[in-house]
Amino acid sequence: MSVANDDEVIPRAGVIGWPVAHSRSPKLHGFWLKQHGLVGRYDKLPVPPEDLAAFIADLPREPGFRGVNVTIPHKIAVLSLMAQVDDAARRIGAVNTVVVQPDGSLHGSNTDAFGFIENLKADAPAGWKAAAGPAVVLGAGGAARAVIVALLDAGVSELRLANRSIEKAEALAAEFGKAILPVAWDERMQALAGTNLLVNTTSLGMAGQPPLEIALDDLPLAALVNDIVYSPLVTDLLANAKARGNPVVDGLGMLLHQGRPGFEAWFGVAPTVTPELRAAVLAD
Ligand code: ATR
Repeated sequence: MSVANDDEVIPRAGVIGWPVAHSRSPKLHGFWLKQHGLVGRYDKLPVPPEDLAAFIADLPREPGFRGVNVTIPHKIAVLSLMAQVDDAARRIGAVNTVVVQPDGSLHGSNTDAFGFIENLKADAPAGWKAAAGPAVVLGAGGAARAVIVALLDAGVSELRLANRSIEKAEALAAEFGKAILPVAWDERMQALAGTNLLVNTTSLGMAGQPPLEIALDDLPLAALVNDIVYSPLVTDLLANAKARGNPVVDGLGMLLHQGRPGFEAWFGVAPTVTPELRAAVLAD
């Protein structure tokens, strides 16, 4: 292998997934690189599952490689390939950001919980606080785990978790403690009474997926409504919530905010989320 002069090596990162063609992360990090006038690159890196372990093992030896984002289907498998993982990654059970350390070891973190709560903080009405009351979370998959960790850390003391397969909600309650109250899918409407936050973490309402059916009559008007789904940007859930007067936050911001810690670790600049960034990431 040729050893490049340090001065000539372009810092680089990317997103590994299979498939990875759909990922908007290159637009996100590409925008920030350009905005800050940095020399660097961020690429889509298709890695089939059978090549994952070798790809990760080789990462520290690739000239200039500072780390990667990890997306479907590798987020869980990558966890066990790291030398160290942060607390959020351990609790969520998945890694979405890998950073090559100065000694060549690999550090895995999960910035999805950070991205979720930063998005709410940035776009919720002034004075709205996650800890002010019970939350309802729809879904009990990987995205729900990040949302649960974020809300527990934000001080939510009652989290009503509604899922089609109640066993998954019960398993998360057993794992994350007594703040999590499993709710049968058919009872999701009644669970809205007296709450401060409603989050959809299911794939329902996403383009090409079935609609999310939920009547919002029992939801207090001050409750914030957030959808992890950002394609479409304004889901039926958000449109219906807004029409009846609830504050809403869309799901794109979670993607944008979760990228901040990785970008800073790889390229040395703390980036911000702006309307221009949103427009650039949404543009096709
Ligand atoms: P992710 O990692 O994005 O959370 P996932 O782990 O596949 O994806 O979870 C998908 C979530 O959407 C689950 O909560 C799933 O419910 P089940 O656990 O019962 O499968 C939910 N979901 C998907 N399709 C659904 C549907 N038609 N009705 C209700 N919930 C659905």
